[in-house]
Amino acid sequence: MFNAHVFVKKAPGIQVPFQLEGFTTACRKKHQVMQMNRPSFYEELNQDLAALIGGETDAIANLANASALLFNRLPDLNWAGFYLLKGGELVLGPFHGKPACIRIAVGKGVCGTAVAKRRTIVVPDVHKFEGHIVCDPDSRSEIVVPIFSGQKVRAVLDLDSPIINRFDAVDQRGLEQFVQVLAAHIPWDEITG
Ligand code: SME
Repeated sequence: MFNAHVFVKKAPGIQVPFQLEGFTTACRKKHQVMQMNRPSFYEELNQDLAALIGGETDAIANLANASALLFNRLPDLNWAGFYLLKGGELVLGPFHGKPACIRIAVGKGVCGTAVAKRRTIVVPDVHKFEGHIVCDPDSRSEIVVPIFSGQKVRAVLDLDSPIINRFDAVDQRGLEQFVQVLAAHIPWDEITG
């Protein structure tokens, strides 16, 4: 079962130096990530995800907590969430950020392209991605990671940033591992199809 005490203790990631006390949350988050070796940051994040969702079988609860974890731990995001593949199209799932487009056809936008190509798509500048679907004009870069159960794509994880070139190969690897941990704790047949 999820142990709130352990999670709360680990959530800040590393000790916050005394002089950071007055920083805004966003600023402190960024400083913490910069202080850490980034693969280790993802290792810890993915352990925290496993602790957070490991004792729960409700799909919506686990997807909602996973989006909250990403939005609150990764710096420079303006959206973090899921689109679920239902009846052959992507439908908006749990997320953090501004209200977003609800339905995306496979092959359309960055999300639909990730499903069609069955691989992660990193977009350094969304203005240069033909067919990018604008949900929030503040978004400047994006990463979309397909989520599989077996050979079947069930959903995508979508992260947006207001910063150009926010996502690199370390993010890609860390997030691909993140969705693998997540996928094992989601009863996909209940929420997709
Ligand atoms: N930009 C995405 C649409 C989803 S929002 O970013 C939340 C796309 O092009 O598929």
